[in-house]
Formats: sequence, C-alpha cells, structure tokens
Amino acid sequence: MNLGIRNLRVLVTAGAGGIGLEIARAFVAEGARVHVCDVDAKALRALAKSDPKITQSKCDVSDRKQVARLFKDALATLKGLDVLVNNAGIAGPTGKVDAIAPEEWDRCLAIDITGQFNCTRLAVRICARARTLRS
Ligand SMILES: NC(=O)c1ccc[n+]([C@@H]2O[C@H](COP(=O)([O-])OP(=O)(O)OC[C@H]3O[C@@H](n4cnc5c(N)ncnc54)[C@H](O)[C@@H]3O)[C@@H](O)[C@H]2O)c1
Repeated sequence: MNLGIRNLRVLVTAGAGGIGLEIARAFVAEGARVHVCDVDAKALRALAKSDPKITQSKCDVSDRKQVARLFKDALATLKGLDVLVNNAGIAGPTGKVDAIAPEEWDRCLAIDITGQFNCTRLAVRICARARTLRS
C-alpha cells in the first residue's frame, strides 16, 4: 500500500526513546527521511548505533535557542521539512496542589506547552511551503 510517505522529510521531537522512537522507525520503514531530537545524550548515542539512517540533534524543546539550532540542523540535513511530530512531553508531577513543587510545575509546562509552541512556530511556514511545492 502506498501511504504517500516515501521521501517525506520528517522531524520527530523526543525521538531517541519511547513512542517517538517507534514513530521515527515507522516513518523510516515507509521510506521517509527522519531527523530526531532528544535531550538524552546517552539515548542519542544508542540510536546512532541501532538506527544509523535516523539523523539526530541534541535538543531540549523547552529551550528556544536549542530549538532554533535543531531546525537549522534538520533543514540542512533533510533539505526541507514536510512533517513535524511534536512528540516531546513529560508526565509531570501528580499529587495535591499544595504538595507539588513549583519548579516541577514550571518544568512540565515549559516542555509540554512551551516546547510544542517552540517547535510549531518554526515548522508551520516551512511545512506549508513544502506542501505548496509538492502539490
Ligand atoms: N506513554 C504513555 O502512556 C503516554 C500516554 C499519553 C501521552 N503520552 C505522551 O506521548 C509522548 C511520548 O511518551 P513516551 O511514553 O514515549 O515518553 P518517554 O518518557 O518514554 O520519553 C520519550 C523521550 O522523551 C525525551 N525527552 C524528555 N524531555 C525532553 C525534552 N525536554 N526535550 C526533548 N526530548 C525530551 C526523553 O529523553 C525520551 O527519550 C509524550 O509527550 C507523552 O506525554 C504518553
């Protein structure tokens, strides 16, 4: 079955482990070119050995400067971008509101909310341009 994925250029955030890695592998299996980022350097080193076709950058999605570098890397490597998989997120703290450490709360919002914004704002125009060129 042709899913229209062959040669798509895909960026998966938090792609060195968990669900993100499986998404990255599924895209590669369908013929896409995939770049991932992750905050975990050890997981990225393991990925380079296990999945050498998947290119990578170390990046914490909550850090706007790191995200800017990530997009620079990904665009240079993939020569454009068709798909962003905004996968990075953490479960965050659970418990009674007065027992949650404010630093943990802030970290969760920085990754789960601001991290999504940081990546999406850079991806939309690039992906829209790529779509126009493909159609
Ligand atoms: N696993 C579940 O049951 C479940 C359920 C609902 C939603 N989700 C969401 O799906 C996504 C993936 O879940 P998962 O279970 O694979 O997560 P996971 O905890 O296994 O983490 C996957 C990867 O995220 C990376 N990561 C963490 N913080 C990061 C950051 N700031 N920047 C870049 N990379 C970072 C980790 O290093 C890891 O390699 C998350 O957004 C999660 O909230 C998961």
